[in-house]
Amino acid sequence: MIKVKVPATSANLGPGYDSFGLALNLFNVYTFSQRKDKKFNISIKDSNNQIINLKKKNNLILKTISKMKDCYSDKIETKGLNIEVKLNYPLDRGLGSSANAIIGTLCGINELFSLKLSKKKIIDLALKIEGHPDNIVPALHGGFTISQIEEGHLYYEKFFVSPKINVLLFIPNLEIKTKDARKMIGAKINIDDASQNIANASLITAGFIKNDLNLIKKGSKDYIHQQKRLSLNNKLKKFFDEISKNIDTPFFLSGSGSTIIFLFKKDFTKKEEIIKNIAKDLGIVNYLIETKVNKQGIIINEVGD
Ligand code: HSE
Repeated sequence: MIKVKVPATSANLGPGYDSFGLALNLFNVYTFSQRKDKKFNISIKDSNNQIINLKKKNNLILKTISKMKDCYSDKIETKGLNIEVKLNYPLDRGLGSSANAIIGTLCGINELFSLKLSKKKIIDLALKIEGHPDNIVPALHGGFTISQIEEGHLYYEKFFVSPKINVLLFIPNLEIKTKDARKMIGAKINIDDASQNIANASLITAGFIKNDLNLIKKGSKDYIHQQKRLSLNNKLKKFFDEISKNIDTPFFLSGSGSTIIFLFKKDFTKKEEIIKNIAKDLGIVNYLIETKVNKQGIIINEVGD
């Protein structure tokens, strides 16, 4: 039996649109094994152990296996394949659940059927299923990652993040489909906005390298996508505006939302209370998860049946 743990990821970090990613110590767990009855089974449970029934077209595990079979049909046998998934954070909240499922499946099937695919090949296949690398790369490698696709070629850098930096996830009870959120941005951006984002993204990179949250905060404003996406939900937009007035550590819309990710070092209890109260006043049902940046990315183990 193969057990694969894939970290949640937070893409963009404000100005690093489609490039920056952060891996988190919050894992979805996939087990791949062979059944005696030759049935093909996928069962998905959420963090409360409730079964999740996904429509076939939304099931990225199925889609990934079908893509793999296009290339390796002679080596992959779905008859008798059993896949169990434990989700430890909700879908469609901007925490990279799509990339997580794709990477988890690619790595699990690779291991179970001894395909011997390299990490590079895994990323190539993943990019064919999900076009942007900013969740895929940190899910695989951990840390803070910068990804670039130029002329069809992916290049990325990974940075270790200080364990002194803590993460708080504010997860609203609000699903946002990345596809819809991308439509909000439009095809053109203003030159001043582009140059602000370049400066700010550079400051964030410097901040991670120097372990300096003030630098990250200085660079945290985005001029391209966040405000447009927040306008998808009036309450979330108001929440973001209110926390901007009250919280002095860096925070971002995570991926395309609806989660908001906060980074902090010192005791955050009072700030957490402020966040909770603002959400309560606006009637946003939510929960908070405190975690750290993940160091090593995906974990793959062979375990006894
Ligand atoms: N960078 C993507 C977006 C996140 O913001 O739409 C999903 O990869």
